[in-house]
Amino acid sequence: QMDCGALCVLWCLTPFYFLIGCLCFVFMDADFTLMWASMLGNKPENKLKGLVVWVTGASSGIGEELAYQLARCGSRLILSARREDELNRVKRHCLECSNLQDENILVLPLDLLERSSHEEKTKAVIEYFGCIDILINNCGRSQRSLYIETSIDVYQALMELNFLGTVSITKQVLPHMTRQGTGSIVTVSSVAGIAGAPLATGYSASKHALQGFFNSLRCELTDFPNILISMVCPGPVKSQVVHNAFTEEVNKPVTTPGNQDHKMPTSRCVHLMLVGIANGVKEMWIAQQPFLLYYYLWQYIRTFAWFITNILARKRVQNFKAGLDADSAYFTKAKTS
Ligand SMILES: NC(=O)c1ccc[n+]([C@@H]2O[C@H](COP(=O)([O-])OP(=O)(O)OC[C@H]3O[C@@H](n4cnc5c(N)ncnc54)[C@H](OP(=O)(O)O)[C@@H]3O)[C@@H](O)[C@H]2O)c1
Repeated sequence: QMDCGALCVLWCLTPFYFLIGCLCFVFMDADFTLMWASMLGNKPENKLKGLVVWVTGASSGIGEELAYQLARCGSRLILSARREDELNRVKRHCLECSNLQDENILVLPLDLLERSSHEEKTKAVIEYFGCIDILINNCGRSQRSLYIETSIDVYQALMELNFLGTVSITKQVLPHMTRQGTGSIVTVSSVAGIAGAPLATGYSASKHALQGFFNSLRCELTDFPNILISMVCPGPVKSQVVHNAFTEEVNKPVTTPGNQDHKMPTSRCVHLMLVGIANGVKEMWIAQQPFLLYYYLWQYIRTFAWFITNILARKRVQNFKAGLDADSAYFTKAKTS
């Protein structure tokens, strides 16, 4: 039995533990579960070796980096996006940076908007590799425009791509996983899937829809304990996402993609994603400070989160209206790009 003295010492040390926790939090770039998994959990290279992983949106940004790191882990890959030449470039680099052979990587061009093709594409994967162990729903496009100035067609396009396209490809892949009894469906959501995001009302809605859909699907799959439904919620990460974002009209390009200095390196984000997948983490928050703090405020102290959001959003919208780089405008006066 613990005596009174020992209890007193433990009690006195509580502020010390709290201080250590706070200090750690300052340097964290993922939520506590994911950080814990990255220190003490399974290593991706041990868990993902030999698995068949289908990555959508593999021609640039996060998807491209996923391809490289998965190749180094020894996963067999299906690389999908619309631009076949870019996918072939990614495949070549995967072969250079890993021990994989040519036949271990299938380049499978796919337009997520063409839902009628999803069944045939899934069949092609099964015919080639015999199974799908992990589907990473990474493909997506963002938005940079004010709701008041944006065509409703942009909202339709965002939902068709980010939400319905993802739901459609998942519908084809999931039955194979339920037959196998194992598998992981990993979907890249965003901080905008958890919190409100000015200049991205449609994007945020599409990511909230994904969160609702997959959180509900996870509940439906309780009879399949070996099927993982995992949501990845990155904050700002270096990629082409702003360059490729929707604006006020469906075909109008972004004019000020802005600088990426404040964003998390793609390789770090992807490393943490793979740690999460290897350890069966259901929801991953991946972001540098102060964005990570923002997730915790939204989750646990909503009223305060709204207060902060309103201050930052005002600044962001003002900078956007002035034609400045809205993305780096949260905390400092934005630079023109
Ligand atoms: N970067 C960030 O700061 C950030 C933060 C939070 C969440 N995310 C999410 O991360 C995911 C990846 O984005 P990213 O940052 O890597 O952006 P990215 O560099 O723009 O990559 C987007 C990928 O999606 C593909 N894609 C676009 N439309 C497609 C379509 N109709 N059919 C098939 N593929 C299509 C693109 O390839 P093609 O053009 O060749 O088709 C590209 O490979 C997205 O879901 C995004 O919402 C990004």
